[in-house]
Formats: sequence, C-alpha cells, structure tokens
Amino acid sequence: MTGGVGAPAERREGREKVGGTARYAAEFHFPGGAQAWPVPAVVARGRVTGVDTTAALVVPGVLAVLSHENAPRLVEPDDPTLAVLQNARVPHRGWFVALVVAETLEAARAGAAAVRVTYDAEEHDVALTVSHPGVYVPEEANGGHPAVREQGDPDGAFGSAAARVDVAYRVPPLHNHPMEPHASTARWEDGRLTVHTSSQGTGAVRATLAALFGLPQDRIVVTAEHVGGGFGSKGTPRPDVVLAAMAARHTGRPVTVALPRRCLPAVVGHRAPTLHRLRLGADGDGRLESLVHEVTTHTSRIKEFVEQAAVPARVMYAAPHSRTVHRVAALDVPSPSWMRAPGEAPGMYALESAMDELAVGLGMDPIELRVRNEPDVEPDSGKPFSSRNLVGCLREGARRFGWAGRDPRPGTRRDGPLLLGTGVAAATYPVLVAPSTATARARPDGTFLVRINATDIGTGARTVLAQVGAEALGVPLEQVRIEVGSTELPSASLAGGSSGTASWGWAVHDACARLARQLAEHPGPLPEQGLGASADTKGAADAESDFARHAFGAHFAEVAVDTVTGEVRVGRLLGVYAAGRILNPRTARSQFVGGMTMGLGMALTEGSTMDAAFGDFTESDLASYHVPVHADIAEIDAHWLDEEDSRLNPMGSKGIGEIGIVGTAAAIGNAVHHATGVRLRELPLSPDRVL
Ligand code: MOS
Repeated sequence: MTGGVGAPAERREGREKVGGTARYAAEFHFPGGAQAWPVPAVVARGRVTGVDTTAALVVPGVLAVLSHENAPRLVEPDDPTLAVLQNARVPHRGWFVALVVAETLEAARAGAAAVRVTYDAEEHDVALTVSHPGVYVPEEANGGHPAVREQGDPDGAFGSAAARVDVAYRVPPLHNHPMEPHASTARWEDGRLTVHTSSQGTGAVRATLAALFGLPQDRIVVTAEHVGGGFGSKGTPRPDVVLAAMAARHTGRPVTVALPRRCLPAVVGHRAPTLHRLRLGADGDGRLESLVHEVTTHTSRIKEFVEQAAVPARVMYAAPHSRTVHRVAALDVPSPSWMRAPGEAPGMYALESAMDELAVGLGMDPIELRVRNEPDVEPDSGKPFSSRNLVGCLREGARRFGWAGRDPRPGTRRDGPLLLGTGVAAATYPVLVAPSTATARARPDGTFLVRINATDIGTGARTVLAQVGAEALGVPLEQVRIEVGSTELPSASLAGGSSGTASWGWAVHDACARLARQLAEHPGPLPEQGLGASADTKGAADAESDFARHAFGAHFAEVAVDTVTGEVRVGRLLGVYAAGRILNPRTARSQFVGGMTMGLGMALTEGSTMDAAFGDFTESDLASYHVPVHADIAEIDAHWLDEEDSRLNPMGSKGIGEIGIVGTAAAIGNAVHHATGVRLRELPLSPDRVL
C-alpha cells in the first residue's frame, strides 16, 4: 500500500514549517494579549528581602509586576521547580523572583530591568568533586534504577587481572538549548484555562496546571501543535507555563511568556556533570573479569535528580565480577533534568572510552575486544535479549567505514600540521513504552481520521503515525488524516525516552486494525457519522517483559587534529543501528543524524562552566554555548540493519530518538587518541585542552 510503514513519506507539516505558517506557542495572539519578561535572581542562595516595583510600574505599557508578595498562590507542586513566586527563598542563581507583564515585549523587558530586588545572600556551594563532603548514595538513580549493583568480587578480580584500566573521565554540565525557547500563551475565560505551550507532552502539563490551580482537568485545554525541539528539557512542565497561567489570572488578559534564551540555563534543566571512575580488568585475551563504573553527579537543593550514567554498564558487556554505583551531592545549583539519552550519553562516553583504552593496552582491535565480551544474556538482570545485534552493527559499520587494515598505532598519520585518526564506539538505548489511547474513524467519503494526543517535537511523529494507521487499515496514506498535539484528543504519553512512536503507534495500530475488522463486517455504505473504533494499550504497554529490550548501534569517526590550533575536525561520522523495524527511513535518518550531530557537539564544543564565584553557568546563550552548525559537519551518515523482533509492539519498532547521541562522543575521543597518542579524559575536546 503506498505510503505505509517503511515508506520514506515526507513530513506532513514540512511545508507549513518552511513557509512560516506553522504557529508556535508564543505566536498565538489574542485581543488584549500581553507579554511578560522574567526577573532572575542574582544571588546563588538566600532570600528576597524586597521587591521595589515603583520604577517598573511607570514604564509605559507595563501592566503589572508579579512577585512572591502578590502572585496567585499555588497548591504546592510535586515538582519544586514549578513553585515560582511563592516565597522569598532563592535556591539558586537565575531562579525567577519577579515577572513583568506589559502591552509589548519591549515594555515588559524595560520593566524587568527597572525592578529593584534586594536580597539577603548566603554562602553558596556549587563545586562538585568526588570527595565533596555532601556526596551520598541515593536510594535510586533516575528511571527507578538501583543506585548500586554488585556481582561477585569486582575488587579482587580487578586486582588479579592480567590487563587493567583504571581511569577517570569528566563530562561537563550540558544544556539542551532547543531552537525554540520555552514559551507558553495562557488565557482564562469563564473559569476555564486554555494554554498553547512548547512541550513534549501536554497531558502532563494539563495535570500539573490542574493540581497547581486547584481545577478539574476538564476545565483546562493544553495544545502543542508545533514544537521547535526539546531534547528532554520540555519533557516536564517548566516555569513559563505556570507563570503564563498566573499572569493571565492576575491581569485578566491573555499572557505570553517566552523565556529569553539567557534565562534558560538556570530554569529548564541541564544534563548534570558526571565524574566517572572506570576500572576494567581483563585476561590476556581481552575477556573482562571485572567491570567497575562509579559515577558522581550533582543535583540541586530543591530536587533530587540522579543522572543514571552507570546503568548502560549493566547492559553492555559480560563480566563475572562487576559494580556500578551512583553518588550525588545536593549543591546550590540550578536543578538538573532530562537531556537526550540521559544516563546513556555520558555513561557510554566513559565506558566506551575505557574499552578503547583497554584495547590499546592489550594491543587488540577495539571491535574484536567488544565482540569478545558479548554477553549471552543481559548481564545485570540475567534476562535474554529480545534481540541484540551489536556485533552486526560493528561489523556492518566496519565494512562501510573501511576499518579493515587500520594501522592501530596512535600518532603516526600526518598530513602537514594535521594528525589523523579513526575511532569506534558502541551505542545502546533501552526500549521504553507507555500506555496510550487512540481513536480511528472511517468516513463515508472514503477518508479516515486518526486522533491521539501525541506530540510532534520535530521528529515527524504525525507522519509516521499516519503511516502506521494506513498500514493497519490497508489504505493509501493520503486517505488517512491525523490529529495530534492537544489534550482534547485521546490521552497519550509524552515524546520522551525514545518511546513516542512505539507507544502511540501501538494504540494507533490497534484502533485502526479494529476499525478495519469492523469495516470488513459492515454491509453496504457507511452511515453519515461514519464508523469508529478506539484502542487503549494500558494492559499491553504496562506488562513486564521477560526479555531485556534495547536498541544497539556502532559509531565510527575519522578526525583531523590541527597541531597548530588544537582544533579537532570530524571528517567522517558513521552510525549503524539495530533498532527493530524502521518505520520511515526519511524521518528515521534525520533522527539518527540529529543525535550524532548532538554527540559531535558533546565531544568537541558543548559544555557549561559552573562559575564558582557567581554560582551560575557562564555560557548563557548560543554565542557562548557552541552547538554544532553545518560547517562543523562534513560527511555524516546513518544506516541500519533489518532487525525483526516480535517481542516489542505490533510494528516491531524500537526507539530511535536518542541512540544517535550515545557513543558518538566516545568514537570521536577514541579517534583523537588514535590521531595524537594522547588520551584526553575531559569533555569537550576543545582547542585549549587539545594543545
Ligand atoms: Mo528525552 S531526554 O527522553 O526527552
């Protein structure tokens, strides 16, 4: 059937986006609509002692200044980062202490500059070290993973191993920085709240607003029709949506809160810094005897968040003795949060760099070392894998990349001032799925309407879901209309954890398959209202699997290191993935390549510096926080293996949104070592470190 699953269908909203008619959350304009600008705290810890609004209120166009002194009271949120303007406490620098609402953005900004806030500042502590006295072992790391897992006698086995690697790596704080900053437009009408917001999941936004404002959920509508990226930072509601709803209630106007880019680093989360210690002990043939991965990270004073960076070490390699540990310190820092492949991205940077160090120490090819340590079952759980084609990815990648015949000696290939090298690293990401609901309706005119509150954050979700529906219905893609992005639609999970397509597609598939059966049994023409079916995957999606389910991949990088400037250029980047059935090669490729591009940034240019004196991140905009641009990317390509796995969902798909970033930084770092003979263990590999 044309355009069904597996076809390279074009994005349905592509024309709207490139033509500028797609509307984003800050672009919904209503009569009487007002704009707002926040005032961030300039101390890293303490209390607000006064908010003088006199000068702000006389700025022409300013309507109101909200602070903890006059803002609407909220029911205490589950997420402490949303308790904005509720009390005088400043838990970190950049925390919002006021919001100016005005007729125009310019007036709001001028008003915000005129607000005088005084503080009672206290000593702050923002510097993470492994020996920080505040470091503790939490009950759990994120995702419900146990903080500590241990098998056998890892210290003893390490001590007696023939080959040993005992190294430390550091990944700095990283920021998501989506193209579209966090923004919301809110209006109240007759006790009902309507919100347009930039979010990865409007269901959670509605539930949160209902709780905060003490409203039943059916009095709130939240939409996110187009979203300019999130990368995890829009996976949970952020202060913009709470402030917009508060300001709209306070002023009686529709209010837009579009957070200024420079405010984002402190209030919409960051990937927490991770300090890694890796100990790998192997026999003379490279078989791991002991694998120890210990991670120390930070969280804020108001919210415990533990980046689960030692978790991939529980999945990747067979080792009879192992220990994986997460430790955390609560500091006066902004609250960390989700960022693309939380856990896997920093964890696999460290593990895959250490595996490369072990291969170099053993004089063994790094691909062969990984093949030799393939586990029969998932090492930590003992469960069989539903499918695991890491070796296939490594072999296919080696073939495509031209790995055979590689001279393993580091620091020996020169091209004028350039040192050249190649590197490889493995990737993994878990298969996650969450309950969702969809409806499908057949119309007398031969078209079909599929409805589900999925969120298309730029991935092409609405296109792929229409393909899944068309396939299940057995009709051409053009006949299937789809509606996503509103809480008015059947409830569905968020676009996060690389789970969207699997979760929503499952519900869409089931609803459409049910409708197809009804149609097959329906005699004659359809009634005017058509024929409808719905599906809810709660039972199926919640069921615990007897299998360990993960996507796998292999990344290959070729670099040139400039010995004069210290610049690292990536000439080629290749990813090969085993991620179940690929539903749309066009949008899938874009996901993989996008993840790899973000991994390139993590390797070479991205990183936020915590300024110990001010207690905040130094890089606060895209001029100082360097995300990769086209000029940073030479040849970049993604391929995949045909993987059939019947233990996933009706489409047979695994998630693909995050695995591209996992392992890319390690592949580049390993290539830099191959080029230079120098092992750099702190990201990013910026010129100052390389020289
Ligand atoms: Mo992604 S960090 O799971 O939204």
